[in-house]
Formats: sequence, C-alpha cells, structure tokens
Amino acid sequence: MRLYLSVGLLLERHVPAGGAVICGKHIPEGTIVGVNPWVTQHDPEVFPNPEVFEPERWLATGKNKEQLAMMERSFFSFGAGSRVCIGKNISLIEIRKIIPQLLRDFDMSIEGDKEWIVKNVWFTQQQMPLCVLKRRKRHGTG
Ligand SMILES: *[C@@H]1O[C@H](CO)[C@@H](O)[C@H](O)[C@H]1NC(C)=O
Repeated sequence: MRLYLSVGLLLERHVPAGGAVICGKHIPEGTIVGVNPWVTQHDPEVFPNPEVFEPERWLATGKNKEQLAMMERSFFSFGAGSRVCIGKNISLIEIRKIIPQLLRDFDMSIEGDKEWIVKNVWFTQQQMPLCVLKRRKRHGTG
C-alpha cells in the first residue's frame, strides 16, 4: 500500500478565501493545490530507501519512534482528513482477513516473465503477469 498506491495523482484542495501560506509562500485563493501520495510515500527523508519493500520499517522499536510518527503522518493510501476514503475501514478489515487466508490456503507463484506495469489514470491500474494460486494440501483436521 505504500509502494503501489491506488491513487496516482493529486488529492486536490482549493485554497480558501484570503489565500493561504503553504511552505512559507502565499498562495492566492481559488488555487488548486494538493499532495500526491506517491511523492510523500516515496520521500527518502520520511521513508529511508523508499523503493525497498521493508515491512519491518513499520515496527515500533525504541530507536525510530520519531521516524515512525513521521511515516504515519505521511501515509496517504486512503487520503486523509475530511476526504479520507469512505471505504478505508472495510478495506483494512478485508486486507487483514483475506491476505492471511490466501497465504494460508494457497501456494502462489508468478507465471511467465512479463514486466509489472502500473498505468496512472488517477487510480493506478496494474497490469502484471498472472499470479497463479494453487490450493495447499490441508494437514490435520479442518
Ligand atoms: C474508521 O474507524 C475509526 C475508528 O473507529 C473512525 O474514527 C473513523 O471515522 C472511521 N473512518 C471511516 C472512513 O469510516
């Protein structure tokens, strides 16, 4: 969710009446501003070695509490604030239920050697080689 986000363009906001100061610069009212979550989630100051899949970076160990807080503030996979994705909580439940179940019940492999392509049309669409699921043999009861 950090490396390959579903939203690939700006999460737009309109600067309100009177303008706003953003990063020390006055921005006139009505200007469309926004944050691109792909940029924040690939920022090496927030996520060291940003292109590396490193789930353990999220573990709360003593030495990186400030880093962790900064990462959590910069994680926009579901947007943030008043326009957070309305499906965020149901998606998190599905991810926490479905992924472990799939890993438990299936062996997974990638078919062929096609490249993983990400096409950005506001939502990012992924075209990748086929992922083959093979049901694992069950041991014991159940
Ligand atoms: C998700 O759940 C949290 C905790 O219950 C709640 O504060 C938040 O409003 C919910 N967000 C959405 C988008 O439903």
